[in-house]
Amino acid sequence: MIILGIETSCDETGIALYDTERGLLSHALYSQIEMHSEYGGVVPELASRDHIRRILPLIKQALDSAQCRLSDIEALAYTQGPGLAGALLVGASIGAALSFVLKIPALGIHHLEGHLLSPLLSTPSPQFPFIALLVSGGHTQLMQVDGVGQYRLMGETVDDAAGEAFDKTAKLLGLGYPGGAALSKLAEKGRLGQFNLPCPMINSGDLNFSFSGLKTAVLTLINRQEMNPQVCADIALAFQEAVVTVLTKKSLTALSNSGLHQLVVAGGVGANQRLRQHLAKKAASIGATVFYPQLEFCTDNGAMIALAGALRMQAADKLDDLSTGSFTVRARWDLSQTMQD
Ligand code: KG4
Ligand code: ZN
Repeated sequence: MIILGIETSCDETGIALYDTERGLLSHALYSQIEMHSEYGGVVPELASRDHIRRILPLIKQALDSAQCRLSDIEALAYTQGPGLAGALLVGASIGAALSFVLKIPALGIHHLEGHLLSPLLSTPSPQFPFIALLVSGGHTQLMQVDGVGQYRLMGETVDDAAGEAFDKTAKLLGLGYPGGAALSKLAEKGRLGQFNLPCPMINSGDLNFSFSGLKTAVLTLINRQEMNPQVCADIALAFQEAVVTVLTKKSLTALSNSGLHQLVVAGGVGANQRLRQHLAKKAASIGATVFYPQLEFCTDNGAMIALAGALRMQAADKLDDLSTGSFTVRARWDLSQTMQD
């Protein structure tokens, strides 16, 4: 079955074609980062308008590079939420319209489900059950994943998400938006041990996180220091070390609490090289393996939505019910509400 995946939840228009027999056939992406960076964050109305401009050319591009025609598509998966309502509506309405015209089923996918299944696009891929660390701009969660649609929340952030903390700290250091990647690049020039920042909730005894205090600690540090490029790099490194230390420690605790030996890291912060190094070392020391999506599928993309749709459809009894022509989006949506029995 060939499935068209559509992602428009935030500032990336992502389209992909996934074949349940042959795997990923093609994917196309347009990132609006440049447009939003001028404003220091995503402007929802601009995001929706840009999705409208990009989505049809990207669908054509994905079809062309897979050497497929519109009529070859047998099912559709679009991000139904959570995300920006207007942006979600673009993908959902195109998905519903194509489903109606082509008379094929369409399935609304939870954005985070896409992220946490994304390492299954790579080989070697993890086997169920596994622990997933979801670290994106909007979420920081540890989940136990027993199968498609079987997700148990083990812990999450009580305030800012890890990516959000990276972005806000990057802003304090005068880096652009979103600043996660730029901050980690700057940290490469930093000197370890110049500054020590707290590792919030590291000994809380649970699997929850908190990152807003860390950002405040950075601000206090900046206000006290004579700032120059080296100090900026030292602070960036200290910040990154604190986040990486907490994410690693809690991920390892989740593995040992569950008795599982596979950890999947998904979401934009999973692109962080220092996090990858640290996790690899610590996981190896307890005989666990860490899986990541390919770098291009760490941040938002259509391939993860097409894959999640394919897995959901393979697990569904009947597909007929899915082609109704109507659709809804859910700007706020708890992943536990998507659970399958
Ligand atoms: O998953 P994603 O594309 O979007 C959401 O669904 O939120 O993640 C974007 C987040 C941003 O906060 C960005 O700063 C962060 O991922 N990010 C990074 C890196 N690359 C992207 N954070 C730390 N290190 C990186 N290399
Ligand atoms: Zn995302």
